[in-house]
Amino acid sequence: MTQQFLFEVKDLAVKYPNGELALYNVNFRIESPTFMAIVGPNGSGKSTLLKTALGLIKPVRGQVKVLGYDSVRENKKIRKLVRYVPQRDRIGLSVPLKVKDIVLMSRLLKKPPPRFASAKDKEMARDALKRVNMADLWDRPFPELSGGQRQRVLVARALAGDGPILMLDEPLAGTDHESQDMIVEALGEYRNEHEVNIVMVTHDLNPIHTLVQDVLLLKNTVVGVGTPCDMMNTELLEKVYGPTARVIEYAGHRYCVTHDSGVDRHY
Ligand SMILES: Nc1ncnc2c1ncn2[C@@H]1O[C@H](COP(=O)(O)OP(=O)(O)OP(=O)(O)O)[C@@H](O)[C@H]1O
Ligand SMILES: [Mg+2]
Repeated sequence: MTQQFLFEVKDLAVKYPNGELALYNVNFRIESPTFMAIVGPNGSGKSTLLKTALGLIKPVRGQVKVLGYDSVRENKKIRKLVRYVPQRDRIGLSVPLKVKDIVLMSRLLKKPPPRFASAKDKEMARDALKRVNMADLWDRPFPELSGGQRQRVLVARALAGDGPILMLDEPLAGTDHESQDMIVEALGEYRNEHEVNIVMVTHDLNPIHTLVQDVLLLKNTVVGVGTPCDMMNTELLEKVYGPTARVIEYAGHRYCVTHDSGVDRHY
């Protein structure tokens, strides 16, 4: 059987119209299926890489293939495969949608109009909310939720959908310990039960390093790609986060200590 790659990225460069080179000389391959983390500081091109993979941004050089499809020529196909949770929610909070409407969206948008939720759609939506411990909020207006609760609902929306790739851009940002643990656990469980790919952008590898198989260290180009164990390496982390970055071992576990450790958490 031929090996399928979640990502095949060759000689990629991405430039914004203002001339900023967000990514350059990016080369890597990740086998499918996987749970992978994309790790790097602010401005390192993490979101740009996901947007390029989805065909929302066109490279100035090189190529991105997602499960064999070219991000420029075949982006419509790619978008059908991907359940994307963008960085910061873009759902207008002035629209009085309920939690159930938000989660059901992932199922209804794939149907032709008129779009009605079937019993199966509702079951999938409820199951996804249960996974992040939000099932009780089914009828609550989404804008009334806290930031962490909203993030959990958006992860549930992705879990309720279909498609072999979940791409989550900083789903842990602005969440407390409880929400963070809930999201990480839900993603891990879902991945154990389904043969899907999960791609998660994060500033902090610590909460997920035992779950992920592949880690891409990014600082506008690839600093490292490999197993979490190989990437939790002081020399590599220094290249990404500067000379104060460290990997420490404590009680048999490794932890990355960087300026960004814990930034996703609000204590
Ligand atoms: N729409 C845009 N127009 C111009 N430059 C942009 C745009 N979006 C991003 N950039 C620039 O591209 C670079 C990479 O940005 P990107 O948002 O991909 O980084 P990131 O790793 O996702 O950062 P963060 O951790 O802050 O989300 C940055 O220098 C940023 O200023
Ligand atoms: Mg980003």
